[in-house]
Amino acid sequence: MTTQTETARQFFFIEKAKEHVDELAKKLGRRPVCNVTTFGCQMNARDSEKLAGILEQVGYELIESEDADLVIYNTCTVRDNANQRVYGRLGFLNSMKQKKPHMKIALCGCMMQEDTVIEKIKKSYRFVDLIFGTHNIFKFAELLCTMFESEDMVIDIWKDTDQIVEDLPVERKYSFKSGINIMFGCNNFCSYCIVPYVRGRERSRSPRDIIKEIESLAADGVVEIMLLGQNVNSYGKTLEEPMSFADLLREVEKIEGIERIRFMTSHPKDLSEDLIQVMKESKKICRHLHLPLQSGSTRILDAMNRHYTKEQYLAIAERIRKEIPDMSITTDIIVGFPGETLEDVEETIDVVKRVQYDNAFTFIYSKRTGTPAASMDNQVSQEVVKEGFDKLLKVVQDTAKERTRLLEGQIQTALVEEVNEQNDAFVTGRLSNNTIVHFPGDASLIGKIVKVELKECHGFYYAGEMLQEA
Ligand code: 5AD
Ligand code: SF4
Repeated sequence: MTTQTETARQFFFIEKAKEHVDELAKKLGRRPVCNVTTFGCQMNARDSEKLAGILEQVGYELIESEDADLVIYNTCTVRDNANQRVYGRLGFLNSMKQKKPHMKIALCGCMMQEDTVIEKIKKSYRFVDLIFGTHNIFKFAELLCTMFESEDMVIDIWKDTDQIVEDLPVERKYSFKSGINIMFGCNNFCSYCIVPYVRGRERSRSPRDIIKEIESLAADGVVEIMLLGQNVNSYGKTLEEPMSFADLLREVEKIEGIERIRFMTSHPKDLSEDLIQVMKESKKICRHLHLPLQSGSTRILDAMNRHYTKEQYLAIAERIRKEIPDMSITTDIIVGFPGETLEDVEETIDVVKRVQYDNAFTFIYSKRTGTPAASMDNQVSQEVVKEGFDKLLKVVQDTAKERTRLLEGQIQTALVEEVNEQNDAFVTGRLSNNTIVHFPGDASLIGKIVKVELKECHGFYYAGEMLQEA
């Protein structure tokens, strides 16, 4: 089936789902409300906007509270604590559903691609109404219809897909910024990571579809976009007419109305010199590169199947620092991978000190069933993990603070994102390099790019003052 036919099919189900929601509205005597709760990464956040787009179209009102007529959890499974959070909150949803029997509960996302999870839900969480996975999210409208028409738990999980269904409704969380999927899945199989198993094989969207989507976002007032993929640096390799990520960026740069371009995530092994040059020359690409290190020990990197050494990583970071000195570099690090010793952690700390990350997300290794690392027999004891983790965290925080402070006194542009949560006389903006700045202002500034003086550094953020609209 072509993707256009599939899109048309889903619009048919949107109409049909509307009838179900209308019927529910009559029964309740009000418009039904729903909640979409997102766990995990930017990719999931974007998927949730697609779910919200459908829900809005079929007649639900979206609300923040989970005290709703339909609650959908878009789950993550990259580390086990994400799974545990979902189970915990399901218990709470159940108590709510007992008071409100018409309430529907749906689960989707990465965690649902795991057989063990489905077995557990079937056994212990019988009150769930609908379960689907990452590959068939495009048929959400159809699945909603099935759910309304069925007494039993509806489960639809696909093992993989090569389909990319375009042009379905999306309800953006922010009016002025948006994520855009440029590719789906991952082919890297880092040995600790479950993503390739739950998100399937790598496939790129066509440049035409991506550009078209960004143009229509720009026409709708979006000024900042984030290109999303598990490994954006390998974008376009599998297209019929291959295109590099650097060339895609060149095309995106030309789109009028888009002021800022971000992307996530870059794999160091595929970061090309061409990309460095595009970033350097661009007026729109933000001064922020997220470049996951995972470990600074070549021995561990090899066991992780990362395809680079400590020295190769350092060489890339050094190249970027030399070519684009104002580029902030952030990273992800895992502590406690099987076989990791405190000496290995020292190697990681050495990289952190040398690269001087602007920020680093540090994770304790989580064993994911089905990955090669899960069956390695040299799992690290909790005490050793904790010792290494605490030591690393301290260095990460110290270097990040130092890097953040470098901007003190400068004038920079910030995109205003929201009214400050603690004090409504202030707004919160984001600098090109991803640092947060708070300054006096009101809601009328939201979505605008303004000039701010970075007056005082408070650890990881700034207190500033607006000069004028940029
Ligand atoms: N355990 C801990 N952290 C992990 N990540 C991926 N898989 C695991 C795991 N099994 C981290 C990596 C990745 C980030 C998104 O999550 O650092 O870059
Ligand atoms: Fe996981 Fe590695 Fe793919 Fe990132 S590149 S999603 S860490 S397998």
